[in-house]
Amino acid sequence: MILVEQDLGTPEPKRNSRHEVPRTVELTVDGVSIAVPEGTSVMRAAALAGVDIPKLCATEKLEPFGSCRLCLVEIDGRKGTPASCTTVVAPGMSVTTQSPKLERLRRGVMELYISDHPLDCLSCPANGDCELQDMAGAVGLREVRYGYQGENHLDLPKDTSNPYFTFDSSKCIVCSRCVRACEEVQGTFALTIEGRGFGSRVAAGANGNFFDSPCVSCGACVQACPTATLTENAVIEHGQPRKTVLTTCAYCGVGCSFKAEMQGEEVVRMVPYKNGGANEGHSCVKGRFAWGYATHPDRVIQPLVRESIDQDWRIVSWEEAIEFAATRLKAIQARHGRSSIGGITSSRCTNEEVYVVQKMIRTAFGNNNVDTCARVCHSPTGFGLKNAFGTSAGTQDFKSVEYADVILVIGANPTDAHPVFASRMKKRLREGARLIVVDPRQIDLVRSPHIQASHFLQLRPGTNVAIINSIAHVIVEEGLVNERFVSERCDPAAYQEWKTFISNPENSPEATEPHTGVPASDVRAAARLYATGGNAAIYYGLGVTEHSQGSTMVMGMANLAMATGNLGRDGVGVNPLRGQNNVQGACDMGSFPHELTGYRHVSDGTTRAIFESFWGVKIDPEPGLRIPNMLDGAIDGHFKGIFVQGEDIAQSDPNTLHVEAALRSMELVIVQDLFVNETAKLAHVFLPGTSFLEKDGTFTNAERRINRVRPAMRSKTGKQEWQVVCELATALGHPMHYASSSAIMDEIATLTPTFAGMSFAKLDALGSIQWPCNEQAPTGTPIMHLNQFVRGLGKFTATPYVPTREKSTRRFPLLLTTGRILSQYNVGAQTRRTQNVEWHREDLLEIHPSDAETRGIHDGDTVTVASRIGSTVLRAHLSERMSPGVVYTTFHYPVSGANVVTTEHSDWATNCPEYKVTAVQVSPGHSAATIELDQPEHRLSALVRMANQIARQWSADPGADAVECTARHLESFWEHDMRSDLASAVEAGSVTVEPVVSDAVRKLVALART
Ligand code: SF4
Ligand code: SF4
Ligand code: SF4
Ligand code: FES
Repeated sequence: MILVEQDLGTPEPKRNSRHEVPRTVELTVDGVSIAVPEGTSVMRAAALAGVDIPKLCATEKLEPFGSCRLCLVEIDGRKGTPASCTTVVAPGMSVTTQSPKLERLRRGVMELYISDHPLDCLSCPANGDCELQDMAGAVGLREVRYGYQGENHLDLPKDTSNPYFTFDSSKCIVCSRCVRACEEVQGTFALTIEGRGFGSRVAAGANGNFFDSPCVSCGACVQACPTATLTENAVIEHGQPRKTVLTTCAYCGVGCSFKAEMQGEEVVRMVPYKNGGANEGHSCVKGRFAWGYATHPDRVIQPLVRESIDQDWRIVSWEEAIEFAATRLKAIQARHGRSSIGGITSSRCTNEEVYVVQKMIRTAFGNNNVDTCARVCHSPTGFGLKNAFGTSAGTQDFKSVEYADVILVIGANPTDAHPVFASRMKKRLREGARLIVVDPRQIDLVRSPHIQASHFLQLRPGTNVAIINSIAHVIVEEGLVNERFVSERCDPAAYQEWKTFISNPENSPEATEPHTGVPASDVRAAARLYATGGNAAIYYGLGVTEHSQGSTMVMGMANLAMATGNLGRDGVGVNPLRGQNNVQGACDMGSFPHELTGYRHVSDGTTRAIFESFWGVKIDPEPGLRIPNMLDGAIDGHFKGIFVQGEDIAQSDPNTLHVEAALRSMELVIVQDLFVNETAKLAHVFLPGTSFLEKDGTFTNAERRINRVRPAMRSKTGKQEWQVVCELATALGHPMHYASSSAIMDEIATLTPTFAGMSFAKLDALGSIQWPCNEQAPTGTPIMHLNQFVRGLGKFTATPYVPTREKSTRRFPLLLTTGRILSQYNVGAQTRRTQNVEWHREDLLEIHPSDAETRGIHDGDTVTVASRIGSTVLRAHLSERMSPGVVYTTFHYPVSGANVVTTEHSDWATNCPEYKVTAVQVSPGHSAATIELDQPEHRLSALVRMANQIARQWSADPGADAVECTARHLESFWEHDMRSDLASAVEAGSVTVEPVVSDAVRKLVALART
């Protein structure tokens, strides 16, 4: 069965606060009495009374427009036949929706539409899902008096430029729903209606096609279109879907709800779900269209094992793979001790899958050596917010932004990384909220259609804490502190201590300006706006956390929110924009080496006793190893085996060469994933994982919202991932069995006070729930710390600015910072296997024109980026988004190896790597002089990496002779005494290189011999 959501025609009237109880208005519609909130349209009131008025240009997601004239009604005491979508209810109104006159008028409207519409309903992809078809039926249209011979638009060409949907202009009824969806819902303004009268047509951008327009392929226009004019290509190819499965997007931390619309085991389309708490019916290009990776031929669905990483993989049965892994893990522990193995949980997996992995490590491995990929992204959020407020999570739900008056975005790029939330934020900004952006790069939000930041503080990478301190300094110095909030809600001694610290002149904007590069007057103006502009909300991302002072900065933002009283209600708060779909959940599930579920420390005897009695094992009271400690331990020789769940640490963690060396040093690497990724290339056991379309469980998004993930298709591996982990734990001697993933959630609820009221049955009934969910909050907690902080009194903490040790020098004069783009996701394992590559085929190095000019670099040139750790090759893109001295890249392609250059510096409290600041030099080409390797033992692997990059770049260039061009480029470092290293290794077959590299090397060797 396909789930069809009721469309009430126009939106609910806006309220000033979600707690406001609106006045109601009573009216009758076709004799049925109904009371509706003041401001409701007649159309919506009728729908609520169970009376459907025909409509075409109206839809609940968009403001009423009143163009199609199909929804006409009669109202007692009023002249004419007003449009019900644009007419607001009034007390005592009596509405008639059906009369001979109305029927005649509506049929007349439909006749005009149909006389200029192809009569191909039976072969049309929208057949059965077309509002025009439905309305023709609803008004009883049987004939078209005007005939079909007149001037029409039936020969207009199709626009097939977008890889995911087609625009067939011949079917367009010019209702403007697409144009309005792009403006009102998405906020991109890519579409217009050009021409007038009969010549009016929808146009995308100045070039006239969707792909070359500013369109970001969110799908809102496709969703809004009432005809087959805008249709998903998958629907054109496969026809209409037959059943719906409600589930959750597996990309980012927004956690959008989708209807997976299926034909048997095949997804036909993913449609954003109107009742989804996080997205309310909106989507981005990734969740809406980029699901094809789930059935990509690269997916491995059978277990693989090998004795050593230089051997070929052997396909084996599940039993053999489990036995192979368990035997070797036990042998390692017998030889090297209980602590010689550990594991990493994945923020891509469900809560239930994560829970069983950390349980396996704590029970079957018998240690606390479990960590999660949040280590490399939001671990400072957990530390900082817990310290200040008592809970390691954001304070608000997404809806809260609709009540913000000032929005402070720090180190986040929501339009690219959290697009659906960004659309919500942009809507609020268009309504008049003021915006402050703090970022080294001019993100789109700073200036985009109908949005202009009031203040853009373009700071130098690594100076966040200096900026936040200077904002707080102004607030204290200028008497803008909310004394009442502070005295009622915060720890007085900690506040006094902080006040003394922050008042120190060294924190003034004038004193920090030399560090940050931001004019003091701009900081002062932004501080005043944040403190006095009404409800002020902070939204931040990895540009805050991935620094050596990441945790300090989180506490600095918490200080600011407490000092101004911006906590505990709608429109305010401190809100981390979490990266991965389940990074919040992975942290909640006890994935850190020092914490059991619900952030309870392993050293706490009472908590341990609860788990010990339930699990039947003793739990080590000492925290286990973090990811960097495990990797260092491997290199030192005392950490020997690792279980890696859904995480490509060889690509995503900093200092790739170090990670690779650590993995190579281990006796056993087990990877559970969809694809043989860069980490799996160094593994001994590959346990195939499941895509989100096969999973049964829950994800927790950035607003603590737990959403159900339901299987839309059978597991391609024959098992759920949690079953595989339970089998491994059992083979290791600790039996773990669950009847279903729901039973795992029941165990989590039993052991975790913040989840005590959670169950799949309740989630199915309520749709989604934000934790804490327990006796005090049986339906969850949208906004935290309402009257009191979880820790009691809010805690101010002094946050002295300590400059990073990573400094630009004469040798490495530029600062590299990293980020994401919209169409790709993280290391790209999924999105690179979809048509999203059409928007982003390679990672680029953004460099300011003045920095480029002094280096002789032109737009599109290949350049070498070298840090003291390693070097990589990228193509340059000249851009003024960064200040001179700062360069930027994304990290979506393994071939770019952006993390080859990032350093070992990390956050002082959590070890979160300092991805956002790396001192580099950028040089044209790949000259040997630019290969700056301080570690000679890594030189060969760096050479191989660069050679492979060069080969792949030329292989991707259709006009080039890849071998010839690669050989030419290899020559540049060939002459610099590297020939013997690379040539001998390639000839001996001791390194893995692209075939083009082998051919190019052979060519160069032959040339050298002649
Ligand atoms: S896909 Fe989204 S961005 Fe593109 S035109 Fe449609 S609504 Fe606008
Ligand atoms: S493309 Fe669809 S939504 Fe847009 S104007 Fe035409 S019929 Fe309406
Ligand atoms: S915003 Fe995030 S969760 Fe929503 S559809 Fe896009 S990638 Fe998926
Ligand atoms: S639906 Fe009201 S005018 Fe079109």
